[in-house]
Amino acid sequence: MALVTTKEMFKKAYDGGYAIGAFNVNNMEIIQGITEAAMEEKAPLILQVSSGARKYAKHVYLMKLIEAAIADTGLPIAVHLDHGDDFEICKSCIDGGFTSVMIDGSKHSFEDNIKLTKQVVDYAHAKGVTVEGELGKLAGIEDDVNVSAEDAQYTNPSEVEEFVEKTGVDSLAIAIGTSHGAFKFKPGQNPHLRFDILEEIEKRLPNFPIVLHGASSVIPEFVAKVNQYGGKMPDAIGIPEEMLRQAAKSSVCKINIDSDLRLAMTASVREHFAVHPDHFDPRQYLTPARAAIKEMVKRKLVNVLGCNGKA
Ligand code: G3H
Ligand code: 13P
Ligand code: ZN
Repeated sequence: MALVTTKEMFKKAYDGGYAIGAFNVNNMEIIQGITEAAMEEKAPLILQVSSGARKYAKHVYLMKLIEAAIADTGLPIAVHLDHGDDFEICKSCIDGGFTSVMIDGSKHSFEDNIKLTKQVVDYAHAKGVTVEGELGKLAGIEDDVNVSAEDAQYTNPSEVEEFVEKTGVDSLAIAIGTSHGAFKFKPGQNPHLRFDILEEIEKRLPNFPIVLHGASSVIPEFVAKVNQYGGKMPDAIGIPEEMLRQAAKSSVCKINIDSDLRLAMTASVREHFAVHPDHFDPRQYLTPARAAIKEMVKRKLVNVLGCNGKA
């Protein structure tokens, strides 16, 4: 099995009523934890790399690690640029072997977003690479972008047809109430997603794959574990798994998860040092940390995405 694009994956996910997990990767342990889980659950997989991850680990290291994971697991894996900010980073990732890129023009005007996205699509499609665009603004924190809740905007369904038609994108990320990071809702707020907006979008874009960013659930037991072992995470609240399960059965074909993996890994490392304060060999704490990533990914594949057994 070689690297694949998201094209075939999304078609099967759309028809099958499940979603593919897109998990952010930054190092070997994270890649191994995710891919071991997917191999055991026979799940197709998207490994995504943010510009921050690329700066942290370097493009070539992540690419070689992902190639090693494919050789090791035999899984269909797409390697995807998460939140490409401009044409240059998308081009660099396409030239460097990624099979899919996101151009996130959501901070621009509708017209400029179309122009930028089309430029990336033209370049990517000529090289057989798939492209994800975004309409609407998610609240929360990404690499260089911090969108406040007041500036966040739901996707306007009346814009989606024109955007898809004029850009030629292969999938569309939408804003229906998810947001990036561990603090998605305030205490006392009722977590909710705008399924009514999703339905309006589906009416206008039949048979078209939709993407949800900011879809970690920030599972309370993991936040509690981080805090039990010396962490100080105030009031972290995510998207309930039940709502994501519902979304995965709809036109949503890709669900992005990063914060839940970060939490699982950090909880494991904190617990390890609380129990073994004398340890200093990184393998001693990274072995359980990698296992924690694997367990979290299995939970997502089986309980949320429904893509187990679909590889
Ligand atoms: O959406 C953002 C992802 O969680 C990646 O986070 O930009 O800190 O690598 P990062
Ligand atoms: P979370 O912060 O909810 O995990 O979202 C990750 C994401 O959308 C990456 O693009
Ligand atoms: Zn995102």
